[in-house]
Amino acid sequence: MALIEFNKEGKIAIFTINRPDALNSMNVQAARELHEALVAFRDDDELWVGIITGAGDRAFCAGADIKDMLPFLQKNLPQRPWAMPATPMRGLELWKPLIAAINGLALGGGLEIALACDIRIASEKARLGVPEVTLGLIPGWGGTQRLPRMVPRCKAAEMLLTGKAIDAQEAYRIGLVNRVVPPEAVMSTAMEWAETICQAGPLAVRAAKEAMIRGSNLTLEDGLKLETDLEAYLMSTEDYTEGAKAFTEKRKPDFKAR
Ligand code: CAA
Repeated sequence: MALIEFNKEGKIAIFTINRPDALNSMNVQAARELHEALVAFRDDDELWVGIITGAGDRAFCAGADIKDMLPFLQKNLPQRPWAMPATPMRGLELWKPLIAAINGLALGGGLEIALACDIRIASEKARLGVPEVTLGLIPGWGGTQRLPRMVPRCKAAEMLLTGKAIDAQEAYRIGLVNRVVPPEAVMSTAMEWAETICQAGPLAVRAAKEAMIRGSNLTLEDGLKLETDLEAYLMSTEDYTEGAKAFTEKRKPDFKAR
């Protein structure tokens, strides 16, 4: 049985972490499957937006599987510090948008998967945290880097140093999630956002994500150059010609990702 279900609904890819009995914690196989599914999504021209969620009603993902993944990393990380599946979504050059539909607990590596997404929709029952220090570790899938870049530094420090989880409302207040909705509305809300993004020019959406992510490591001047290069590329695409034509003709554009 697949530990990561990979379903397609039109242009939307849905990845479901499917280990509800272990609160969807990520064992080695699940991390490999997630990586492979994301590569398949990246390379499939028919898919424009991805949603990651967890099976069942308790957890999005309770992090790395402490009994399976952590021993694997303990054995392998010292020799191969950046090897897969050490950090999900690192180095994938995945510019298609990803939405985390956080249907419950998002802890440790689970929150880190959500942090690597672009939009986060949380259930009112969700709790989010990075408890790794309570195990004698630090977050190893990007939490020490992505969390302080996303929320006020004092809140990142509070979460990273105490390991205490916060509730969904607090996550919303500090800018860690985009929306908080009742549990039964998490997936439908994520689908609505995905469908809205699918209405826009897909190449433009990818360029916007690439500019945001690559630009965050650049000086302002270099970031502005990157933006100009991406804009020049978009102006050469069929989609931009169609977008401008549709505006003039007062109709919806028919984008083709070309
Ligand atoms: N790894 C392995 N198994 C896990 C797990 C995890 N991260 N989280 C939960 N489970 C398993 C439990 O072992 C239990 O399995 P059994 O029924 O076989 O005993 C099952 O899921 C249900 O969990 P609990 O019985 O513990 O449920 P609870 O309601 O009493 O507690 C919880 C819920 C507070 C989330 C608790 O399960 C917990 O603390 N889990 C660990 C969370 C954690 O520390 N995550 C970080 C992992 S390290 C990491 O992610 C490193 C990194 O950066 C990559």
